[in-house]
This record gives sequence, structure tokens and C-alpha cells, in this order.
Amino acid sequence: MDFSATANLKSRKPSDLLILPFFILKGKVKAAADFNDSLAAFNIPIDAQDFKAGQGELQLLYVNHKQEKRILMLGLGDGTSLTIEKLRCAYASAAKTCHSKKVKALSLLLPEISSLSPDDIVRGVTEGLLLANYSFTKNKHATIKEQPRNLIHSIALIGGNKSALSIAKKSKLVCQGVYAARDLVNGNADDITPQHLGAHAKQLAAQYPSIKTKILGLKEIRKEKMGLLLAVSRASAVDPAVIILEYRGNPASKKVVALVGKGITFDTGGLNLKPTGSMETMRSDMGGAATVLGTLQAIAALGLKVNVVGVIPSTENSIGSNSFKPGDVYLSYAGKSVEIGNTDAEGRLILADAIAYTIKRYAPSQLIDIATLTGAIHIALGPEALGLFSNNDAMVEALDAAGNDTFERVWRMPLIREYRDSLKSDIADIKNIGMRGGSAIVAALFLEEFVGKLPWAHLDIASTAYYDEARRYHPKLGTGFGVRLLVSYLSRQESKKL
Ligand code: BES
Ligand code: MG
Ligand code: ZN
Repeated sequence: MDFSATANLKSRKPSDLLILPFFILKGKVKAAADFNDSLAAFNIPIDAQDFKAGQGELQLLYVNHKQEKRILMLGLGDGTSLTIEKLRCAYASAAKTCHSKKVKALSLLLPEISSLSPDDIVRGVTEGLLLANYSFTKNKHATIKEQPRNLIHSIALIGGNKSALSIAKKSKLVCQGVYAARDLVNGNADDITPQHLGAHAKQLAAQYPSIKTKILGLKEIRKEKMGLLLAVSRASAVDPAVIILEYRGNPASKKVVALVGKGITFDTGGLNLKPTGSMETMRSDMGGAATVLGTLQAIAALGLKVNVVGVIPSTENSIGSNSFKPGDVYLSYAGKSVEIGNTDAEGRLILADAIAYTIKRYAPSQLIDIATLTGAIHIALGPEALGLFSNNDAMVEALDAAGNDTFERVWRMPLIREYRDSLKSDIADIKNIGMRGGSAIVAALFLEEFVGKLPWAHLDIASTAYYDEARRYHPKLGTGFGVRLLVSYLSRQESKKL
């Protein structure tokens, strides 16, 4: 997607379609920018009464201008209560019209909204268009029929101030990180293996000098004695990997934020096999890994002044005659023994080893893990918010601010100490499952055992990483949820000189 900018309607270049924004003010449709003169020239009968300029309302006009043959009237509703998110949604619906009309070159007059800064207006408009302008095309073996094939190639921003173009370009870099995460989730599990995730990380390192990668293969994982990752990976035909990406955006600081992403490339459940109906979407169980890769790509492209280490433990959770077994005890990297109560609670196992390894090797000042960890978080929160668990109020506050900013909403869940007892084992230090009630909390409590006192946040994205149906500007399937959140969070850390 290429962005360009031009000062006013008069100076606009030819395009396939021009979007004009409208408000509803005291029951009357009004131009949402100063183009009333042009409206008269365009001869648009806005008092024709059927276009009400409601939020996201669309009206396509065929015109005979030398610059375009189509105008899309876009309603923004009540101009006094507009938010960035409402802009994202409105421009995402405009993008869908563009797709159906095969619009390649788009022009749009930026709205003027008194309650939002010019930069936020551009961010809302461009993010909505970019997030909706996605099509999964990387799958070698299949096409996803419902997806638009006619993506918008260029957008000319009309009006706006000097920084409009640079804000649009930043949106693009962030959304490219989201696309990368979506592509990784959408790809066949047979293609998106631990080795593929490793190769993806290496590509990022080749593209950005600020990123370095290190990949632990089976031999190194054995040498490091990551007993839990090894147990989960035993029945898989492909080797596990631990993928490490180091981003140095602030060499003057020793502080490092760790991002640990669950990379189960397919979750059969293991010997506690998932039933039909629960396994079909389990290629998305590396959604946390995809978020970490997408986030590192975006912050490197933006050049954020922070230091980040991304760590991705990755394997298939397969089933076979050499599967790890319920009832057996395995020794974790941290030295704690773990009784397997259920092989389908594998995410917390590989995360436990990765978290302990990350703390030992990289001594981060804070750690965020992100994982499609529990079905229970879906029951609790549904598809519009992720579950946030943390031992640190300052992190929660900043994540909450980032969630409101990006509308990748977070909802803090409690770490109820009393539930820890249910993880007690008679034969090991801890068991990997506990009580059924509150099992998203129990999973977080298990992870906390490997975090210790370090400032930590756990993001359970099991209900947000993958959608059965399109929502707002997210197409169905992989969403890339978490990338924009973490980019916003990390840019908040920039000012704290981390
Ligand atoms: N990968 C699943 C969690 C999941 C469920 C992600 C639905 C996306 C959609 C995870 O490994 C799992 O199976 N968790 C179990 C844990 C249970 C055995 C304690 C669960 O949530 O049922
Ligand atoms: Mg599982
Ligand atoms: Zn899983």
C-alpha cells in the first residue's frame, strides 16, 4: 500500500474512487470537512433525505469528474462523539465497498473532527483501511474464497496537516506486523512448523540490523535440559525449536523487555486427544508466537527506542507411540518436577521452560507472555478482549492504556491465591492441571510459579487470536490481535528509557 498526500480537493490526482466524509448534526447531514464549496461544484444533493450519515453508512455515487468516476459518501455519525475506533470501523466498511468495486487507487478527503487530534484522525482512518485491506494469499494448497482478492494498492490523503503522511506510513508499518501475524496463523500447520517460524525470524534479522536471532534446535534444547518442551514435542514428526530474537533499539540502556510467545504449531491435545470440533482450528495455537514475530517486525521497522527479547518455544503437540504420558513426571528447565495431569495443558509446559530460560539468560526487567492458553478465557471474555493476568499494577496500567489506544482491549483477571492448592501433586513439585472452575486463572497461577517476583503479565489470547467470523476490521481466521497492543505498550516504555 502506497500513501501520498495532497493539500486540497482541487489538487487531487485521478483515482478509482473518492471517499467524502459526512456528519449528522442536529438531524442534518453536514460535510465532515471544509468542502461545502466543492459540494456545490460536485452537485451532490445531500438533502435528498435518504443518506443519513449514520456511523459507517455508505452511499456510492457515479459521477463524471475528470479525477474519478465514483464518489463514496461515508457517514461518521454524530461528529461530537467520534473516537479513533469509530473511525477505524467506518473506514473499514468503506474498504469493503472498495474491494467489491475493484478500487485500486483510492482518494479520500480527511475528516475534520474537533474532539480528535489531526494525528489521531489519520491514525484511525488509515488503520481502519489497512486492517480491512488484507487477504490471505500465502497458502500454497488452498484459497480462502470469502476473502477479497481486489485489494486497494494506493491511498491519496487529501487535506490534513504536514504530519499526515508520516502518521499514515507509521500505521502501515504497524499493520504490516499485523499482516505477518495473520499470515502465520492462517498458514497450514504442515507448513508453519517450528522450523518455519525460525526461518521467519532469520528473515527479520536479515532485514533489520537491529534484530539478531538465535535458534535452539533439538540438540541444544536437550543440552539445556528443557524437559517440559522435550516432553510435549516427543511425538512430533518435526523437531521443536526455541526461537530467540533480540532487538536493540536503545543500546544505552541495559533494560530489556521480554516477550514470550506460545508456539504450538498444531495442538492435537496429545494422548488426552481433543475431540472432533475442538481440533480443527488448532493451527492457530502458535498465535502468541505470531504476535511476538509481528511485534518485533513492527518495532524494528518503526525504530522504537527500547530493548526487547522475543522468545518462542515451538513444537507440535502431536500424538504417537512415543507421546509423553498423563501421570508421568518430567523435570522442567527451572528444576521443578511437573506431574502431567493432562497432555492438552501443554502450552503452560513449554512456556514454563521458556520463561525460566529467558529469565536466566536475558535477565529482563519485565516479562510479558502471550499465549492461546485456555478455552476458559473464551467463555469468560468472548472474542473482543484478551485476558490479562499480572503481578504488577504499573504494567497493568500501561497495558490497559495501550488497549484503549488500539482497541485491542485487555481485561484484568484475578490471580486467586487459593486456587494454587489445586495444582498440588503427590509425586512432583507441581501438576499441570488444577481445578476446572477458573481454569484460565489456574493456568496463569501455574506460569507464575516459573516467573517468581519479576514484573510479569500474561496475555491469554485464546479467544482473540482467531475468529470464526469477520468482526469490525478483522477478517475471519487469524486476527493478529496483540501486535498493535504490544507496539503501543512498548512505545509507552520508550519514555521510561527501558
Ligand atoms: N490450545 C488450547 C487452548 C485453546 C482452546 C486455544 C480453544 C484456542 C481455542 C490449550 O492447549 C488447551 O487445550 N487448554 C485446555 C487446558 C485444560 C486441559 C486444562 C483447555 O483450555 O481446555
Ligand atoms: Mg492443549
Ligand atoms: Zn494448546
